Amino acid sequence: MKLSQVLFSQGFGARRECAGLILGGHVTLAGRVCDDPFHEVEPAGLIFDVRGERWPYHAKALVLLHKPAGYECSQKPKHHPSVMSLLPLPLRVRGLQPVGRLDEDTTGLLLMTDDGALIHRLTSPKKHVPKVYEIETVDPVSDAQVDDLCRGVVLHDDPLPVRAAACERSGERALRMTLLEGKYHQVKRMVAATGNTVTTLHRSAYGVLALPADLAPGAWRWLDGPAAVLGPSA
Ligand code: URA
Repeated sequence: MKLSQVLFSQGFGARRECAGLILGGHVTLAGRVCDDPFHEVEPAGLIFDVRGERWPYHAKALVLLHKPAGYECSQKPKHHPSVMSLLPLPLRVRGLQPVGRLDEDTTGLLLMTDDGALIHRLTSPKKHVPKVYEIETVDPVSDAQVDDLCRGVVLHDDPLPVRAAACERSGERALRMTLLEGKYHQVKRMVAATGNTVTTLHRSAYGVLALPADLAPGAWRWLDGPAAVLGPSA
């Protein structure tokens, strides 16, 4: 692949802008400036620098963001900035989208990708990908509430009960719950159906992937591909 095509595919702007970056001496390969836009490279495994910033080539981008509170997952946010604004420009240009949505006040693990088929694979209720939520509540959590969440509660828009794949009390006013679906406000509505109220909500795991303890709120990192989320069977 030509170097300018690599930059274009990775979100560095229009073809002319990519060629301009290279001609201007802003792109290095293995520490050496390459100012030839037509230079042929093998994209798989390629690492290049643009204006001193390191970029690994990814045919499809999959990243993990530690979502802070105060950001909306919508492309057209109404009251708060979009989670997209936390990503660098090339990833925004590539059109990464959140995999499912977290509420504005929910924190934690948010996957983002430009791979539409992967979004479907991860969010389809038929695929049963587990998501783990750490929940704090207004009232103390009772055994009856944990039982209700495990057996299933009925939400107003669906006659069929929805149940947690796993649920445990993690503190006097705290729950850890695993869900296999991702219905609208599902955790908050399920907890409300038991007579309690969510005060804070944090997603700590998605599939086999746990939110890394050293990833600060607002920070993101690359994932190596679907296996990072779905395990080796992906
Ligand atoms: N359930 C909710 O209620 N909100 C979220 O952000 C995620 C799951």
